[in-house]
Amino acid sequence: MRVLVIGSGGREHALCWKIARSPLCEELYCAPGNAGIAQEAELLALTPGDSSAVLAACRELSVDLVVVGPEQPLVDGLADVLRTEGIAVFGPTAAGARLEGSKSFAKDFMVRHGIPTAAAHVFDDGDALMEHLESCRLPTVVKADGLAAGKGVLVCTTREQALDAGRLMAQERRFGEASDRVVVEEFLMGEEATVLALVDGDTVVPLQASQDHKRRFDGDMGPNTGGMGAYTPVPAVSSALMERVCREVLQPAASGLVAEGMPYQGLLYAGLMLCADGPRVIEFNCRFGDPEAQPLLMALDSDLLPLLDATARGQLASAEPPRWYEGAVLCVVLVSGGYPGAYPKGLPISGLGLQQPDEDVVVFHAGTLDDGSGEVLTAGGRVLGVTARGTSLDVARDRAYAQVSSIDWDGMDYRTDIAVRALRSNQRDR
Ligand code: AMP
Ligand code: GLY
Repeated sequence: MRVLVIGSGGREHALCWKIARSPLCEELYCAPGNAGIAQEAELLALTPGDSSAVLAACRELSVDLVVVGPEQPLVDGLADVLRTEGIAVFGPTAAGARLEGSKSFAKDFMVRHGIPTAAAHVFDDGDALMEHLESCRLPTVVKADGLAAGKGVLVCTTREQALDAGRLMAQERRFGEASDRVVVEEFLMGEEATVLALVDGDTVVPLQASQDHKRRFDGDMGPNTGGMGAYTPVPAVSSALMERVCREVLQPAASGLVAEGMPYQGLLYAGLMLCADGPRVIEFNCRFGDPEAQPLLMALDSDLLPLLDATARGQLASAEPPRWYEGAVLCVVLVSGGYPGAYPKGLPISGLGLQQPDEDVVVFHAGTLDDGSGEVLTAGGRVLGVTARGTSLDVARDRAYAQVSSIDWDGMDYRTDIAVRALRSNQRDR
């Protein structure tokens, strides 16, 4: 099979790393890719947003399957263009991708289909938003409606923070058009978990649960980021809870999309809060999580490519279910100094070999660039995802952090507490 992966982050490196290991993969391309992906795939200098160029490349290279990594091209309709031209695509149409592209659309969809979520108010008018924030219950959560790279969500505990959040969205327009509409929702308490599922029309195949760490600093302090680290499986998600997530969230979402005339073929990401009365959806995304994909794809023992291909071709119901590694896998994201604010680029990274360290550790690249001088340079906020597996979460964690200590660049930073809460609750339960 000749496969093209679209994107250039850590998630896409993990996708390419896994697909390249499939006996079914004859040729692997990635557009535009990064320095790490270049070890697994031939890079194509294409912009994911340029659907005509992607289509032309598919034709020229006889691509059998396109796997779209990031949300923006899906929201912009790349899958629609390719599918109309008869090319198999893993990724939903623009209609389905609205579940991520518009938080108010997702909220209305959940209400229509009885999917548990936080109660919310939607504002198109800045004055009405500010008036609501003057007196709403605290804490509250203020969200830009559109795409904002995981940064457009502000959790506010004080009145001052709530009003600042409103001003930032409606007056300063920090998130541009994404905050022309603002969703203000009830604050949910609980442990967070991510459940990803392959969805092909009415067929849902859930993947093992994972947990991201969205806040920038240790102890879940500081601003939200794209994600600072993740691990899988999640001790808090038992098989009974997973069944409940399928029954109350994933299946109604898949069937609801079919019923509303936008059948989905791709990955549905459910970001969940595990509340006292059951799981509730914080957000839907229309693609693999980043960094959740890194540990999850390393934990997948069976072949990924047949699952992606079957989803894209409407045959997921008859595909072999995924099989999982018995232990745990954990990813620590290394970021540029200043992230998620402004950060420098082009800094040389030391301690990165061309070969992966060993079979239990993989350093996935996110924002990296090989400028041809033989040195790998930083090229983004999230730069590397050091991912390790082990017989238990402690072993995976120790391996990942041992590898982190051999890598460095000027200003490199990371969280030191990935999975610490899960490990503590494991100890309590023993
Ligand atoms: P989102 O991009 O919608 O996933 O939000 C980013 C992060 O903000 C989530 O991972 C949560 O940590 C937090 N968050 C979002 N919505 C809520 C909510 N309703 N209650 C509590 N925390 C939330
Ligand atoms: N890790 C969060 C996301 O991919 O949206």
